[in-house]
Amino acid sequence: MDAKKTIFSAPGKIILFGEHSVVYGHPAIVTAINLRTKCIVTESLQNEIQLSISSDYSLNGPSAGLKREYTMNKEQNEFIAQYSNYEQPVNPAYYFITERVLHLSASKKYPHIHIDSEIPPGIGLGSSAANSVASLASLSAFMELELSMEKLNELAFEAERIIHGRPSGVDNTISTYGGIQFYKEKKFSQLNIPNLSSYVVIVNSGIPRNTKTYVEKVAKLLEEDTTKYQKILEEIGKLTTIAKSNLMEGNIQKIGDLMTQNQLLLEKLGVGHPILTELTNSLVQLGSLGSKLTGAGGGGCVIGLFDDYQKANRAVEEMKNKGFQAFISSLAERGVQVEQ
Ligand code: MEV
Repeated sequence: MDAKKTIFSAPGKIILFGEHSVVYGHPAIVTAINLRTKCIVTESLQNEIQLSISSDYSLNGPSAGLKREYTMNKEQNEFIAQYSNYEQPVNPAYYFITERVLHLSASKKYPHIHIDSEIPPGIGLGSSAANSVASLASLSAFMELELSMEKLNELAFEAERIIHGRPSGVDNTISTYGGIQFYKEKKFSQLNIPNLSSYVVIVNSGIPRNTKTYVEKVAKLLEEDTTKYQKILEEIGKLTTIAKSNLMEGNIQKIGDLMTQNQLLLEKLGVGHPILTELTNSLVQLGSLGSKLTGAGGGGCVIGLFDDYQKANRAVEEMKNKGFQAFISSLAERGVQVEQ
């Protein structure tokens, strides 16, 4: 196959149960959502390896239309920005991914890699994993390299380690395979849930935070008071296992209760925030069956589970009126896929 242009997309995610405890070998339940990153690879016209990034975050309007351009520099082991005044440094995972794929491929083509993401970064929706998965899939196809899904997921995990330090691997796995997964120690099973009428409302608190910082914070707390924090992580693990059977039985009311219990445990773990608590309470008042933060905490997003689309829609409108970015996602969206 002589690919002139390859396009792949990969989804973001929300953790329904088990963030942080999953880093310590307990299970998590995670679902792919309806926001995606698209990666388009074409032949570079300059005989250079190029990267461009444009973001049109549907939750973070202000960065729409911005496009940043970079060229690969092998001496410095990084992509160098075309203009030095870009606010964000380029994610080092892109260098790693490009270098690895080019090394494994026999093709001598010069790729131009374009990333177009609708997943806002830094709010717990798995944007970095989706970027890595989409770019690995698209670049390897362009370079005529056949990567198995396992290999793709493994390389995306390595890329995640460069960004997050000590990730569990849950973000890259859900972005690769999609669906709803019960994930534990790098093994996952797809949960075949009954056709529930269930919707998740996702609200961005607007409070910035960093996954690595919060994973490190929990590690430090564990060192300081191992008994206390290990017990909290174990309780989250147990609750996640109970949530799995309830999900499979379609017991949506109970899943909501368990989400609220998970939120209380996350607050005890020290990754809550007063605004997140306020938002979870508001979602429950607006008819959510249960609500919690999602991702590393300290800021980022909260989620609320609804069994009624109208109610979910009203909650989104209410949150927007209060000035928050909010949207509805269905559960179990598709993993990495080719796009036309
Ligand atoms: C990040 O999306 C979730 C955490 O559990 C970290 C991880 O699993 O890598 C906080």
